[in-house]
Amino acid sequence: MRILLTGDVHGNLAHVRTVLDAAAAEHIDRIFQLGDFGYWEHEPGGVRFLDEVHRAARAQGITVYFLDGNHDKSGLILERYGEHRDMEGFLSVRGRVRYAPRGHAWTWDGVRFLAFGGACSVDREYRLEAERRRTEKALRKENYRLAAGRPSHSVPDHAGTLWFPEEEATDADAQAVIDTAGPVDVLLTHDKPRATTPGVNRKDLPVCHPNQDRIQRLVDALRPRLAAHGHLHHRYTQVLEEPHAPTRVEGLAADPVASFEAPGYRVADSWLVLDTATV
Ligand SMILES: [Fe+2]
Ligand SMILES: [Fe+2]
Repeated sequence: MRILLTGDVHGNLAHVRTVLDAAAAEHIDRIFQLGDFGYWEHEPGGVRFLDEVHRAARAQGITVYFLDGNHDKSGLILERYGEHRDMEGFLSVRGRVRYAPRGHAWTWDGVRFLAFGGACSVDREYRLEAERRRTEKALRKENYRLAAGRPSHSVPDHAGTLWFPEEEATDADAQAVIDTAGPVDVLLTHDKPRATTPGVNRKDLPVCHPNQDRIQRLVDALRPRLAAHGHLHHRYTQVLEEPHAPTRVEGLAADPVASFEAPGYRVADSWLVLDTATV
């Protein structure tokens, strides 16, 4: 079985169509997206994105699986679809769009996979400030309305619309996986394992390290042969040797809009064909 792994798409529908075309050209019917998918169903544009991805995937006979990145509102996925599990335990967000919650493990063609989403946003303060500005603007609008003698409206609170407090996994999440998962062949995450040195890394800040340490603990405990992630928007391959697990790590690039700063970026750097026969 072959699966197309792909990096961050950030709700970029044109790029999703490009990735679907790449999968179809390879006769691949499963795409696994590694977080910062664009799950923004709290916004009308986010609903449209999911609907369009479903339609485009269905037209190609492909199913799109994703795990959560720091820019996906993962709490809302669990709230809305936590009870809608398919036969393999994925959450069915749309017919052709499935979500792998943190710690979800499954087997495809005899290969054991485990997904573990989440990461830290380096632009958290910027996003919180933007949320506050949105709320203040809504309040100002309401005050003008009242001053003009118009009936009052409910004022939307924009907290939780741009930054999501559940963005990082916890130490307890990681430990629960280590205690229960058993051997894993392929670990799929949004964040990188701490020990890799990709060369280009805008997210190598102290605030980012605790979550990267959690991913590293999973690599060291579960000893996957392959670990793939997104989040850095940068393509690299590195083999981690002792004292860590002997694991090949693949970091995938993102959609062209998010990758404009990545040196030497090519759109095909945002995907990778995984063949279960050669993992
Ligand atoms: Fe991203
Ligand atoms: Fe990210």
